[in-house]
Amino acid sequence: MEHFSAVQSLCRVGLETGDARFRKQVERLRDRLAKAGETRYAATLDGLLTSVSSEVSLAPSIVEVSRSLVIGDELTGNVHPPVDRETSVPLCEIQLSPARGQPSPIYDETLQLALEALVNEWQRSDALRELGVEPSRSCLLYGPPGTGKTLTAMTLAAKLGLPTVNARIDGLVSSFLGTTARNIANLFEFANRYRCVLILDEFDALAKMRDDPHELGELKRVVNTLLQNLDARADKGLTIAITNHEGLLDPAVWRRFQNHVHIGLPDWPTRIEMMRHFLRPLSLGDDFIKIMCYVAGPRSGADLKTYSDALRRSLALSGSAVTPHAVCLATRALLPRLGIEGRQMGPAREFLEDEPRFVGTILHADLGIRQDSLAQMLNCSQSKISRWFNEWASTNTSAEKVTNAQ
Ligand SMILES: Nc1ncnc2c1ncn2[C@@H]1O[C@H](COP(=O)(O)OP(=O)(O)OP(=O)(O)O)[C@@H](O)[C@H]1O
Ligand SMILES: [Mg+2]
Repeated sequence: MEHFSAVQSLCRVGLETGDARFRKQVERLRDRLAKAGETRYAATLDGLLTSVSSEVSLAPSIVEVSRSLVIGDELTGNVHPPVDRETSVPLCEIQLSPARGQPSPIYDETLQLALEALVNEWQRSDALRELGVEPSRSCLLYGPPGTGKTLTAMTLAAKLGLPTVNARIDGLVSSFLGTTARNIANLFEFANRYRCVLILDEFDALAKMRDDPHELGELKRVVNTLLQNLDARADKGLTIAITNHEGLLDPAVWRRFQNHVHIGLPDWPTRIEMMRHFLRPLSLGDDFIKIMCYVAGPRSGADLKTYSDALRRSLALSGSAVTPHAVCLATRALLPRLGIEGRQMGPAREFLEDEPRFVGTILHADLGIRQDSLAQMLNCSQSKISRWFNEWASTNTSAEKVTNAQ
């Protein structure tokens, strides 16, 4: 379709306003395109509808939560956290406004729905009570590093309008016999006294398997105390535990959490959305963002943020206009510094060392990237791009569309 990229940009700008009528029109356009067999354009609009909605809806606007759901004293700036008796290190950190200074998280659709469902339970607790149930009060977030688990916990608390009590592992874990268990009990006692969300980050440090042969009786005592305190907190506030070593958790711990949410590496549309967001105020066309994402491979949000920040720094210092080719040059210079190219013989290495092959694989991946965008980025003619692709295709006829975009 001619001028589709302009249509796409218009749709993006309109959707970002959050206007429901505009959204409806984009949905109609998507459905019409799908019906007319223009599946690729329909899929692009669909991706846009999903990603923009996730960004808009997860900005931590506070939901109405009934006050009877979380009872206890109000946390204020005058409340001091409990401390370890021997070392005086605080057992937790209090955040009265957990959204402050935090970016808005961007999720794929499945995760977005899972988190929205949790918030919805709190928002509609009356409806739940009619059927004799309460909103769930515990959630275990697990998944690889840098995928936004801590950010998610803070965002959930901000959405519910509650301050957070974040456990400090350095304060809780003591080398004195029995002190860690006592610290855990004191932390829970404190959290239960106030209206708050208790966040147990790096949870595996406390909840390791009790039958670990390298550990002695102390660990058993710690885990038992933890289990008892989690049970006692089951009807109070919200408790969020976070780990990226879920395999280390004691099996008995899982049952203490009503929700187990896996936060994995973001999917392709979400990575594109993240890059677009992290690169602001730079506004690169969709194709260029896709090329950058393809080069980076399947990465966590934290990796993409580092990559985007480095790119913005490099472009800011280059002093030249931000053209697609300038972006390409900056990316080439920074990839080796970010360790992205060294990890596998993937797209980043091809991008750096073998442009014809890179062009072949990225076009074969069928990501909707136009040949002229690649030509602009690599600063060559479109006919060269086309020739490279044809040459690549003739020697890779049976190549499957297995790409890092999946
Ligand atoms: N889904 C996301 N949306 C937006 N930004 C993200 C997302 N995931 C990661 N980030 C970026 O990465 C940063 C680090 O994320 P965060 O600390 O929440 O990750 P984590 O999963 O807790 O990592 P770790 O397991 O190493 O503690 C965030 O502050 C944010 O800039
Ligand atoms: Mg974290």
